[in-house]
Amino acid sequence: MTTEVAVDSRLVLTDEQVREIAATYGTPVYVIDEGHLRRRVGAFKTAFEKSHPKTELTYASKANSTLAVLRIVYSEGCLIDVASEGELRAALAAGVPAKKTHLHGNAKTAQEIKAAFDLEVAQIVVDNFEEVDMIAATDGKCPDLMLRLAPGVDPKTNAKISTGQADTKFGFNIADGSAEQALLKALLLGLPVIGVHCHVGSQLVEPDAQIGGGQALAGFVREMKQKHGYVTQVINVGGGLAIRYTDDTEAIDPQKYCDELTAGIRKGLEGTGLDPVLVQEPGRWIIGESCVTIYSVNNVKTVPTKTGRRRYVSVDGGMSDNPRPALYGSPYPVRWVSGDGRGAKPDAVVRVAGKHCESDTLFDDKALPANVRKGDYLQVLCTGAYNAAMASNYNRYSRPVSVLIREDGTHTMVQRAETWEEQFAREIVPEDLS
Ligand code: LLP
Repeated sequence: MTTEVAVDSRLVLTDEQVREIAATYGTPVYVIDEGHLRRRVGAFKTAFEKSHPKTELTYASKANSTLAVLRIVYSEGCLIDVASEGELRAALAAGVPAKKTHLHGNAKTAQEIKAAFDLEVAQIVVDNFEEVDMIAATDGKCPDLMLRLAPGVDPKTNAKISTGQADTKFGFNIADGSAEQALLKALLLGLPVIGVHCHVGSQLVEPDAQIGGGQALAGFVREMKQKHGYVTQVINVGGGLAIRYTDDTEAIDPQKYCDELTAGIRKGLEGTGLDPVLVQEPGRWIIGESCVTIYSVNNVKTVPTKTGRRRYVSVDGGMSDNPRPALYGSPYPVRWVSGDGRGAKPDAVVRVAGKHCESDTLFDDKALPANVRKGDYLQVLCTGAYNAAMASNYNRYSRPVSVLIREDGTHTMVQRAETWEEQFAREIVPEDLS
């Protein structure tokens, strides 16, 4: 089996591949392409390295922490950003040494911090003053620390995934002096603060905000050098690059982006003598376009509306395998695949609905062939990021199987669907409940 990569870089399976995968593993199914994923990491890494002499690429595993994905990304030379002890343990289970991980989180628990010490993660990204105290009080060798800063830039994206502005729960504000206070406090306690970090938002189609974030960090470390002689070794500007959820979104050129980002930081550091390692930690850009979800069409229904008629195409998945349309109104590219090889009739505009017991609209106003019917498939592109990672058991559906298309064209399951036993394994019914 060979994968066809669309001219615009997103993974698209051929109709035969869709039918073969669906017949082998059932649907819904997440399909990840190994070669595509390796090329995505390679493209970003090469661009970043070309743009600056000292760089490090970290993969934000919150986007997709399927173990096989972590292993591929790590083997391509990425470090792994983890936002919880669970993600840290996933990285370890995938064979990533803790020394290659960075722990994030805005409300870390003492247990998470202790685990980071004991397992020896490379870095903890510190978010708040209470955390500075918790770290200082933790026994053992303290990992290197980064301070998460709020640079006060407003990204243009969905409000739920904007984090760089001043009014945010994340990090220490630069403008009101909190960042400086945090740095001085940590240094006074003898903690190993090696640098600063920000992450301004996600699915950023225009990278001005990340560039602004990088410049704000450069300005901060410049000031800290001048005022306190603090020498930063690392500047990490987070992730956030957008992918092509719509056909008319322009693909972001990682070279152009990395060049602008690193040039902005270098300019901000001019004359300071500071020469930190620059770090980025994209999640969505790395994995998002390397995966598709295949659904089966279960029924097609046309109903009266106030102004006419609407056609519903109901599929065998929905908000439990992809909550992003419900949460963020996120669009997705959808391709129709006939179940039996028959041709497409001219398009009709339909609403694709999931199978959950509420509206569960997945994709609205989609043009699909008018002869779409039960037994056909829908291939949804760009489902690698924040789909499997945010899947749930709503309505007691099992989270879907994930399949990896290997570079030799074979395919293999890398995560099976949950069993009923697994779903009920955590539950205890008190014996005296009548
Ligand atoms: N670094 C930090 C500290 C982050 O918080 C995030 C994402 C990233 C890196 C990676 O960002 P990316 O390159 O993937 O945009 N559930 C939402 C996305 C939340 C992103 C949270 N942080 C969604 O489905 O759109």
